[in-house]
Amino acid sequence: MNKPSFEVADFGKTKYGEQAKKFVLHGAGGVVMEVSDYGGKIIKVFTPDRDGKMKDITVGFDDPSGWDNGDPYWGCIIGRYGNRIRAGRFTLNGQEIQLPALNNAPAGIGCNLHGGARGWNAYVWGAEPFVKGDDVGVVFTHTSPDGDEGFPGKVEIKVTYTLTAANVWRVDYEAVPDKDTPINMTQHVYWNFKGEAGGSIQDHVMKIPASRITPTDKGQIPDGTLADVSGTPFDFRSGMLIGERINEPNEQLEFGRGYDHNWVLDKKEGELSLAASLFYPGNGRTLEVWTTEPCVQVYTANWCDYNQTAKGGEHLSFRCSVALETQHAPDSPNHPEWPTTIVKAGQTYRTTTEFRFGVA
Ligand code: BGC
Repeated sequence: MNKPSFEVADFGKTKYGEQAKKFVLHGAGGVVMEVSDYGGKIIKVFTPDRDGKMKDITVGFDDPSGWDNGDPYWGCIIGRYGNRIRAGRFTLNGQEIQLPALNNAPAGIGCNLHGGARGWNAYVWGAEPFVKGDDVGVVFTHTSPDGDEGFPGKVEIKVTYTLTAANVWRVDYEAVPDKDTPINMTQHVYWNFKGEAGGSIQDHVMKIPASRITPTDKGQIPDGTLADVSGTPFDFRSGMLIGERINEPNEQLEFGRGYDHNWVLDKKEGELSLAASLFYPGNGRTLEVWTTEPCVQVYTANWCDYNQTAKGGEHLSFRCSVALETQHAPDSPNHPEWPTTIVKAGQTYRTTTEFRFGVA
């Protein structure tokens, strides 16, 4: 076992003029992570393969401009509300709240996505790196003002990244609003176990212990139903190659251009349980995602066909990575019959997600 340690370096200026830092976390178990205070972004994650060879297995950029000039959600903390809210509108305590509904507006079905035009991912947060026993990590803090992107209430947020000796990256979320408001935070890290420029992730095996999804309309917003995955390309309960059924004719797959859906986990409310696992047979890398959240959005980078270059000269391409976003169901503020995302004034929102790295 190594001694856990960290280094701090400049990461450059964001397009908002804020100076960002980068933290290199050396875990006692060998995993090394580079993370930034710019929205908690994951820059690199080095894990061993079955021969002990280390490789960076996430998509990120060498400096903030990569995020600022393309899709901003690679590897970041998402808030105040991860995923979509239909027409950016919901009723809270009898009052209608209208948020900007910029996403998918061209399709005629606008929605609020990942907290709006400038979500919590796009701020430089307070950051305190730490070593505590065998753990190394960073505590990130941020204040979202009342009315931020149209949401009611000021929110004080704390997100702790901890890298343990067992090669687990744990994310603990805490947020306290001063008015009732929806909160649905997640981490939007994208994986490719073949490493930088690894190409498609359709050859990764994925497992999801969930017997239902929340199907969407063509604007990718839940239509309010729950669908049984049995016999469909969404049945990952026994594990399946991501690419095995992704190109089948299927309305849901057409709406998402592949997997971009929310699975409702088979679990007891609030327990820390497996949300998804990934395995690349070619080199043995495995990941288990455990969470206290009820759902996971799986997104196979289907909209990623723009011309952008990531770190190491990687050309970002269609299905070049997969994100496993633990969360409450999208559009929950419009579905009172689903587990609520409304956090009452003065209450503490608290969730935990763990990324457990291994080999097989
Ligand atoms: C959504 C995708 C969206 C992506 C943006 C995902 O969480 O489900 O539809 O394109 O975020 O990076």
